[in-house]
Amino acid sequence: MASRWQNKLQPVMASFILMMMVASMRGDVGVQAQLVADFYDSSCPRVQSLVRSGMRAAVQNETRMAASILRLFFHDCFVQGCDASILLDDTATMQGEKSSFPNANSLRGFEVVDTIKANVESVCPGVVSCADILALAARDAIVLAGGPTWKVLLGRRDSTTASYSLANSNLPSPSEDLSSLISKFQAQGLSTLDLVTLSGAHTIGQARCVNFKDRLYDEDVNNEADPTLDTKYLSQLQSLCPSEGGDDNLSSLDVQTPTRFDVCYYSNLLKNKGLLTSDQELASDNSSTTFSYVQSYTQTPSSFLANFSISMIAMGNIGPLIGTLGQIRTNCHVIN
Ligand code: HEM
Ligand SMILES: *[C@@H]1O[C@H](CO)[C@@H](O)[C@H](O)[C@H]1NC(C)=O
Ligand SMILES: *[C@@H]1O[C@H](CO)[C@@H](O)[C@H](O)[C@H]1NC(C)=O
Ligand SMILES: *[C@@H]1O[C@H](CO)[C@@H](O)[C@H](O)[C@H]1NC(C)=O
Ligand SMILES: *[C@@H]1O[C@H](CO)[C@@H](O)[C@H](O)[C@H]1NC(C)=O
Repeated sequence: MASRWQNKLQPVMASFILMMMVASMRGDVGVQAQLVADFYDSSCPRVQSLVRSGMRAAVQNETRMAASILRLFFHDCFVQGCDASILLDDTATMQGEKSSFPNANSLRGFEVVDTIKANVESVCPGVVSCADILALAARDAIVLAGGPTWKVLLGRRDSTTASYSLANSNLPSPSEDLSSLISKFQAQGLSTLDLVTLSGAHTIGQARCVNFKDRLYDEDVNNEADPTLDTKYLSQLQSLCPSEGGDDNLSSLDVQTPTRFDVCYYSNLLKNKGLLTSDQELASDNSSTTFSYVQSYTQTPSSFLANFSISMIAMGNIGPLIGTLGQIRTNCHVIN
């Protein structure tokens, strides 16, 4: 009897000791609470199905909403961690993230989160954070677009502040080069593989001309366009985005299958049909690590889908407020 217990306990103890060692090597204070998949299983068992049906309705009404919600989650996580800071409105004393350069006139889907949150509040008031709702909604968005599924880790709480300046500095810009993209992801604890994998989110959704127009016309060099752009694709984009005006005209980020969550984003890059500079940069040097990841995803689509789930979990683990930190907002727009 005793030896059976010991046999079962030894590996548990060993992994506990290992966890403590890793935690202390990383300089963590004590053993930190972790996000877990079953966080709301007893406190709000219906949350998963409420978020799923809210997302299903939103995407049925407008296909693009899957992309918009996914981007909202990314822009939340890169600024103070995944704490729903992105959802806070400006106040008299705080300029929030919504008016920052990457977000202004660009982020969409706030009403969708509001509708879902209201439904969740009516069933389990004061229990589920806006940050967790966004994490679940982003996963459901990907599933609705035909992408992979996974168990979302939960237990995040909501911030009481937002940061206009961190939104401007942490979020990558569409004209950024490879080394600076890599360092912005690294600053969030994400690897170069995470960068390539998560950029695959651009297999769905749209971008405004203002974000890639610099590739179509170069005022300095006799209207010379970005030479790395496929010429047919270039003239297509030029007719969508005239040199004057049209800044809010929209182009699909994935020219082949704009609403399907697949590897066409990567095969576009290999054909010089990436829309943003930041997209094409991943494949612009065929001796780079990022190029080899892009190539391997086009050859083995299943590895993209598997890695995407892993990288989304990694992104979702950025700086969560847990335990007694933060709060559970009643209304995602304002602190309690
Ligand atoms: C690698 C650096 C990235 C840059 C520079 C970047 C930049 C952009 C830009 C400029 C747009 C178009 C916005 C507009 O025109 O209003 C966009 C759209 C989008 N981004 Fe990214 N992005 C990056 C990574 C990501 C990541 C990691 C995700 C999610 C995991 C993501 C998801 C999306 C989605 C889904 C859209 C379409 C949104 C819609 O249609 O409403 N992006 N991105
Ligand atoms: C449906 O989508 C349209 C945009 O295509 C939007 O204006 C409208 O508010 C949406 N309706 C609902 C109920 O979400
Ligand atoms: C883009 O915008 C311009 C100026 O607002 C407009 O004239 C043009 O028709 C638009 N092109 C498309 C394809 O929507
Ligand atoms: C990489 O690009 C260079 C220059 O464009 C080209 O000469 C070379 O053949 C390419 N190598 C591979 C493996 O595609
Ligand atoms: C993730 O991507 C890398 C590079 O393409 C690949 O070697 C690896 O097998 C992938 N991992 C999984 C779990 O698919």
